[in-house]
Amino acid sequence: MSEAETALSVPGKLKSDEVQQFVAESLALRGREPEQLLQHLIAAQQRFGFLPEEVVEALAAALDVTRAQVRSAIAFYTFLHERPRGDYDILFSDNITDRMLGNRRLAGLLSERLGTPLGETRADGRVTLGFTSCTGMCDQGPALLVNGQAVTAIDAGRVDRIADLVEEGLPLERWPAEFFRVEDNIRRRGLLLSDPVADGGGLRAFVEKGADAALAELERSGLRGRGGAGFTTALKWRLCREAAEGDPAAERFVVCNADEGEPGTFKDRVLLTSYADLVFEGMTLCAGVISARRGFLYLRGEYLYLLPHLESVLARRRAEGLLGENILGKPGFDFDIVIHLGAGAYVCGEESALIESLEGKRGVTRKRPPFPVTSGYMGRPTVVNNVETFLAAARIVQWGGFWFRGEGTEKSAGSKILSVSGDCARPGIYEYPFGTPVRAVLSDCGADHAQAVQISGAAGVTLAPSEFDRIIAFEDLPTAGSFMVFDRTRDMLDMVRNFAAFFAHESCGFCTPCRVGGALLRNLVEKVAAGQASEYDLEEMRRIGAVMQQGSYCGLGHTAPNHVLNTLDKFPEIYRRRLARADYTPSFDLDAALSEARAISGRDDAQAHISESRFDTTETEAAR
Ligand SMILES: Cc1cc2nc3c(=O)[nH]c(=O)nc-3n(C[C@H](O)[C@H](O)[C@H](O)COP(=O)(O)O)c2cc1C
Ligand code: SF4
Repeated sequence: MSEAETALSVPGKLKSDEVQQFVAESLALRGREPEQLLQHLIAAQQRFGFLPEEVVEALAAALDVTRAQVRSAIAFYTFLHERPRGDYDILFSDNITDRMLGNRRLAGLLSERLGTPLGETRADGRVTLGFTSCTGMCDQGPALLVNGQAVTAIDAGRVDRIADLVEEGLPLERWPAEFFRVEDNIRRRGLLLSDPVADGGGLRAFVEKGADAALAELERSGLRGRGGAGFTTALKWRLCREAAEGDPAAERFVVCNADEGEPGTFKDRVLLTSYADLVFEGMTLCAGVISARRGFLYLRGEYLYLLPHLESVLARRRAEGLLGENILGKPGFDFDIVIHLGAGAYVCGEESALIESLEGKRGVTRKRPPFPVTSGYMGRPTVVNNVETFLAAARIVQWGGFWFRGEGTEKSAGSKILSVSGDCARPGIYEYPFGTPVRAVLSDCGADHAQAVQISGAAGVTLAPSEFDRIIAFEDLPTAGSFMVFDRTRDMLDMVRNFAAFFAHESCGFCTPCRVGGALLRNLVEKVAAGQASEYDLEEMRRIGAVMQQGSYCGLGHTAPNHVLNTLDKFPEIYRRRLARADYTPSFDLDAALSEARAISGRDDAQAHISESRFDTTETEAAR
């Protein structure tokens, strides 16, 4: 049975010899290097539905790591479990857009039908029900994952059918194929999407003209990274190339960031479905420029269903001489790509955490500098780029920097691919020249009554209608691509609650401002929702948000409070109308609290009176 088929199966009951056989096969397939640990664990999880002690022990021994290291990796990744899950492990996608489409009601229905509380495994071990962060299907939600496979467009009818299939114990490969259909939903094509054909033109240009010419085209194009930060791509490649120059024999690496965990983002899913050749071509060009021989595509676990397709594209490219040794007949131009899966950790989209994860470890962000271009995968010079960036690079080397620069603004060349979802008639993928106003996108997607747009995902910016003339561009509204629309019927606090819970869950826990601040913000938002908050709590949210922005260690913590701070400023009424008492200010009188102890211990020189009331919940001056 192939790996993809295994993933579709319902795991059978566990036998010890099965575990031994699996571990032997997995070692033969993936190797014994410690950096393969996560990939072994993901494969074992797919095979058995959980990670039994025998797997932990066998892998620790074979890879020469401690059992504690294996367990700590398991504990880090949401999709890995040391305890058995149900034969059918069903996780509803829980982005705000899924909620707007009724995912909670549908999950409740399935829970009733199967007699399984949400968040639990049924006593007979048949099924586990729960929620997970955005699965990248916002244009065709509500969505869920069953044993890691994406199911889209859930409605009451599908819920009924799923309940029957689970009770019948039917293997997933015999479930209706349309359940697993994922549409591209490309609604607007521009520079990059107008021509999906990859005829190897970029690679031929590279082989004919050389690395310097390819880099020059990239420089001319002004291409900036599409993963969010907008670093100049040519400069990144050049820095990596130069970092390796002193040591020509040293390995360098190319990494494609297909983690796409930002809620509301799904454009990389579509690019990998219908433009994978061009993405791999961009990676191969990068390898040619920096002289890398190995590359990785880090694919988020939620996109497991794409794995067979991507493997087949890679196999075909090898057969066509576009990957492997002496690419297109050029002696010494050797490069190949391996796909690594993620396992449900948003922070692994951050490039240094991603590299840790590629090395088989917990995805904890690294201290920077050094940056990946000088010290990345296994401490070697590494280029990490977004899927869309590699696609654009392939086209630029083929058609020239001026072709790309012809669109966009002075500071933001070319086009941007958006993932549009939420309250609009036509959710899907839209490609626009940079400089396009938000209002034009709203009009194209059929969002007639928008009260807000959340741009660039949960970590991005909340826009009020007065800002709909702002433009999508690095100099105004930079975005990794997510564009979520909220119409006037929506309570924006639902969005805030969803994102606050998301960030509290996704913090890697390494630094205090993000770990503690994220949890405090979530609690305060819930306090507001429960009608128990005061003006003081709103101020507290601002203070915590500022500490997170300034004191967090990586981009996750820096951006996690954005939605709270933005909505406090732009949609204050969603908070104010819920305040228990706007004028209530809790306070604590430290001097009074200590006075009794001082008196008893005789340290109170003034022998101040013993305070009757040590906790003083005073009102503000204005209220008195
Ligand atoms: C919390 C967090 C999550 C991120 N997620 C992604 C992601 O899913 N995909 C991506 O390309 N970049 C993501 N990034 C940005 C990467 O760190 C990195 O800047 C990017 O992959 C570089 O590629 P580019 O230059 O092509 O944009 C994330 C950053 C942070 C802080
Ligand atoms: S900000 Fe700190 S705790 Fe949050 S994800 Fe980054 S390193 Fe981890």
